[in-house]
Amino acid sequence: MKVPTKDQSLRNLQKGGELCGKVKVPGDKSISHRALLFGAIAEGKTIIEGLLPAEDPVSTAECLRSMGVKITPIKKGETIVVNGVGLNGLQEPQDILNCGNSGTTMRLIMGLLAGQEGHHFILTGDKSLRNRPMKRVGQPLKMMGGKISGRSGGDLAPLSIIGSKLRGAVIGTPVASAQIKSAILLAALKAEGSTTVIEPARSRDHSERMLKAFGANLEVGGEMGRHITISPGRNLKGQSIIVPGDISSAAFWLVAASIIPGSELIIENVGLNPTRTGILDVLGTMEANINVTNKRDVAGEPVGDIEVYYKENLKPFSLNSEIMPRIVDEVPILSVAACFCKGISHIKGASELRVKETDRLAVMARQLKRMGAKVDEHQDGLTIYGGNNLKGCELDSEGDHRIAMSLAIASIMATSNSTLRHSEAAAISYPDFWSDLKRLQQKN
Ligand code: S3P
Repeated sequence: MKVPTKDQSLRNLQKGGELCGKVKVPGDKSISHRALLFGAIAEGKTIIEGLLPAEDPVSTAECLRSMGVKITPIKKGETIVVNGVGLNGLQEPQDILNCGNSGTTMRLIMGLLAGQEGHHFILTGDKSLRNRPMKRVGQPLKMMGGKISGRSGGDLAPLSIIGSKLRGAVIGTPVASAQIKSAILLAALKAEGSTTVIEPARSRDHSERMLKAFGANLEVGGEMGRHITISPGRNLKGQSIIVPGDISSAAFWLVAASIIPGSELIIENVGLNPTRTGILDVLGTMEANINVTNKRDVAGEPVGDIEVYYKENLKPFSLNSEIMPRIVDEVPILSVAACFCKGISHIKGASELRVKETDRLAVMARQLKRMGAKVDEHQDGLTIYGGNNLKGCELDSEGDHRIAMSLAIASIMATSNSTLRHSEAAAISYPDFWSDLKRLQQKN
């Protein structure tokens, strides 16, 4: 990937300017990773349309290529072909596997590699990723017989994985995390005997949907679909996948158009998987003006278009641990929304945000306070006092893509212009964010 110049990363952000027109957000990041990974271990070709052409999926593709999987170049608008090598066909890489900034890449690949008998792998990533907890995946994989070690007692990358014979297990996960769940499911494909993952609450279910489509023997049961069982013995078969637009990227436009006077947007082709649509529920309680139209099913995932119009006097909101798995990546942009609601918004049960690409509770509190927002930070959330003017200032995404985009929206509502350091981070999940923003502000 291109290293941005200093000028690219420090961006001027002008105050004001409503957003109007149509926008198509890039492909869903979670689904893109899974399409590449499952395609790699399937038999035959997997054809992927709409794959997110951004840094995180490129990290996944690079790791897979290092293990002998042929994947066509990832470019915007191109159909990607993955030539699957089957469950036993991954080669031992000649060098360390670099997962870049991507937690999904590292965690899912841990599950993929734990059972690759006789091979040795080293996984690393950028400074942010090397500080994120990995024992939450390593520990359950060890219960299956995995051999994983790393810095800080196996919690931090670089990680070493010695592929070994795995056995099925019943594993309760301590947090509702689709990354942990998916890593276990990937390992379970090669284990002896069946494996059941039991989640404390249901996390996004793209892995379950896609693994079933690839032919895995997978069953979802238990209360609220929290028990997922894989019985090994079936080979995966290459599939055709159409990746819908990422609702986590649409979230920036949903909030922007709701809070910026005069805005009217249509966001096309957005994934509406119910395990991801917490943002729509919260905007509903805020009484935002949002319509979902053209609902349809595309390759096993629900999809629709979303119309959103500016709405005066939005209501404040409360988030708790129950909704958190369905909204975990949208908390930064919702904390911007809270600044423009009439009243006090409460975000609780969000301690997982502290172990994302940055400590998102701390960074959002720090950056919004610079703009003059009144925010209290708690161990597991934020209290945000809405209705005060924000002023323009020197902002910093601190290298976090979702924070860069959230602050960009906040700066439009400020009373003076701002600058944003590390604006290039947006490319991790939304490479065209800055050009889409410019276009939508040019009244089309
Ligand atoms: C993801 C799951 C979530 C989310 C991340 C992508 C996935 O993380 O925050 O951006 O693709 O499985 P957790 O599983 O840690 O909650």
